[in-house]
Amino acid sequence: MHFPRPSLAEEMCEALQGSNLFNDAPNGLFLAAPRRTGKSTFLQADLKPELERRGIAVVYVDLWAAPQRDPGELIAEAIGAVLRTHLGPIAKAAKASGLESIGIAGALKIDTSKIGRPEGSTLTEALRALHLLAKSPVALIVDEAQHSLTSAAGEDAMTALKSARDQLNRPGQVNLMLIMSGSDRDKQLRLVNANAAPFYGSSIKHLPLLGDDFVTHLVGLIERQRPELAPVDQPQLAWAFQTLGQRPQFFIDALGQALSPFGDADTSAKGQRFEALVEVLARRRLDQDRQQMESDYLVLRPVEQAVVWRMLEQGPRFRPYDVEALRFYSEKTGGPVTRAMAQKAMEALRNRQPSLVWKSARGEYAIDDAAMHQWYQQRAAAGTWPPTGPQWGSDEE
Ligand SMILES: Nc1ncnc2c1ncn2[C@@H]1O[C@H](COP(=O)(O)OP(=O)(O)O)[C@@H](O)[C@H]1O
Ligand SMILES: [Mg+2]
Repeated sequence: MHFPRPSLAEEMCEALQGSNLFNDAPNGLFLAAPRRTGKSTFLQADLKPELERRGIAVVYVDLWAAPQRDPGELIAEAIGAVLRTHLGPIAKAAKASGLESIGIAGALKIDTSKIGRPEGSTLTEALRALHLLAKSPVALIVDEAQHSLTSAAGEDAMTALKSARDQLNRPGQVNLMLIMSGSDRDKQLRLVNANAAPFYGSSIKHLPLLGDDFVTHLVGLIERQRPELAPVDQPQLAWAFQTLGQRPQFFIDALGQALSPFGDADTSAKGQRFEALVEVLARRRLDQDRQQMESDYLVLRPVEQAVVWRMLEQGPRFRPYDVEALRFYSEKTGGPVTRAMAQKAMEALRNRQPSLVWKSARGEYAIDDAAMHQWYQQRAAAGTWPPTGPQWGSDEE
């Protein structure tokens, strides 16, 4: 069940095509929203079809689909796949009429399996070929684009995309649209904020989250399917959706559970209305999320905890091994912490599954899941930081 967002998609297309004045989307559109709020769904199910309706050739690639692989290769493959769909009929036509006559000789020489490899064609050439073959602008959507910054190869790919954009676009004529999404604004900032960043100077927009119209839509469905429940208490459901961080999947799960005749025994036993059950389930999910983060934190060794604490406290200002950081680690662990010890802790944090720490190819560190920052801030504000519990070591040798 997909709740479509056509007007947001249309608005974005207008911006990308450069039809509204004073917007820099034609230089690249950078979108941020937390995990599981519907970014990939929107990009694939709303934005891509709308771009295609406008006659634009669309390439979509999610860098998290295969996080261990070279982002440059993933991007190249995605371009290659779309290129091939255009190459089929054209290749035949070209043979019949002569390559030069249709002006795509260069495009046809591209070996789609070698795009982006040293011996193959470059991303720019491939994108230019796609533009020529499709006879239309090209939109490249890179989902979870910040992941490209974790390897030198990924950084190179981003630089190559910027160069492709500069070569293909003219003032007033957008031939290559770049759309980059990410789950963490701070990490995405590294694509646009530093002088040496691939897209220096571009700005990041928040992708609007699903809101009241989504809740209204679901309320409509419920009232149609279960007329005996009408009128549904929409504000109460909207509150539950907020509590769930506007993550649609969890909300739909909670609704399903609350409406199910075999639902949750300890809540439905109280004979409450289903809206109240949804609220209970939402709170419970929130508690589970927090407990998960708490136990993830509590199982860490003391130096690792201190490093995570420092990262949470410092945010983008975090420096792992400067004098103040080492002093902080020593203070929190109650013993001297050397640079080597801190490095070892950092490696352990990166190697955990799932990884707690994100590292860029340039050696910048950040908390992997941005939701942890919220958790930290809430606890800090409530005076319940740091979490205490069974300390590490108590049940080990
Ligand atoms: N517009 C929508 N309507 C209904 N469900 C949605 C919608 N967008 C997302 N979802 C649900 O939420 C889940 C997470 O969405 P996803 O697009 O993967 O989020 P993100 O890419 O931000 O992590 C999806 O699996 C889907 O079940
Ligand atoms: Mg996604």
